[in-house]
Amino acid sequence: MKGIVLAGGNGSRLRPSTSAASKQLFPIYDKPMIYYPIAVLMLAGIREILVISAPESISPLQRVFGDGKRLGLDIGYREQKEPRGIAEALLIGERHIDGRPSALVLGDNLFHGPGFEEAVQEAARTVDGCVLFGHKVFDPCRYGVGGFDRSGRLISIEEKPERPDSDYAVTGLYFYGADAVEVAKEVRPSARGELEITDVNRAYLAQERARFVTLEDSVAWFDAGTEESLFESACYVHSVLKGQGERIACLEEIALRMGFIDAEACHRLGEEMKDSPYGRYVMEKARRSNGTR
Ligand code: DAU
Repeated sequence: MKGIVLAGGNGSRLRPSTSAASKQLFPIYDKPMIYYPIAVLMLAGIREILVISAPESISPLQRVFGDGKRLGLDIGYREQKEPRGIAEALLIGERHIDGRPSALVLGDNLFHGPGFEEAVQEAARTVDGCVLFGHKVFDPCRYGVGGFDRSGRLISIEEKPERPDSDYAVTGLYFYGADAVEVAKEVRPSARGELEITDVNRAYLAQERARFVTLEDSVAWFDAGTEESLFESACYVHSVLKGQGERIACLEEIALRMGFIDAEACHRLGEEMKDSPYGRYVMEKARRSNGTR
């Protein structure tokens, strides 16, 4: 399965902070925002990842991950010249997807909590049409929203509806079967001139090939695209670290746990950052897993 992180956009909701750097490079507490969606793909077992971003952000992003080999990944980069819609990621990623199932995640989405890892692994194993992840929210008008019949079956998806059919937002994580590019090619620009991912998902729904997985309330989800949610997500990451000693989206730790790299490689990565608490955490995880250091 192939992975795509869409990390473009013009960051207009975070001005002036985004005047010199893309928001996906901003730290959410201890690491850049883009670590969080990359972690989601890694947890799903995905190692071939395409990062799509605005032209001026490609080289800073490359400085963060390079080709990904150090993490046991294969990371490539493509430009999105203008933010013409989330669904355009599937078109830009056509060569990368190469007719295979894929997972697309937005560069500002953070997920964490019990059962999440199992849910994404199951989606990666079984997706045929599309798998969407829903989360209960108090302000559904800000999101894509699912509508359901009495038996709980998904029957509609609306993008930012004035009168939402439910409190369940469609999060920015989408798993697709092998035909995603073909489906995206049929989508026409919306009234705001964008290729909407909601229209791709609706096409799957019309074919009765859309599955909606509701994430438990115990799973945290943030779309860190506003000043408030950016701050709240950092507070959440900090509170999990303080309370449970766990660093969310520590890519070196995930790579080790998923068997993408060995303990020695993990330790080396930590050692390069040993002046930071994050680096020392990575070294400690490597030492513990290896048992000999
Ligand atoms: O976060 C979940 C929501 O994300 C979903 O519920 C909505 O259905 C979906 O449309 C999207 O809504 P947003 O209002 O968050 O979309 P936004 O235009 O802000 O784009 C989300 C991220 O994707 C943002 O970090 C910028 C990036 N992006 C967006 C567009 C339209 C791109 O890189 N390129 C683009 O062309």
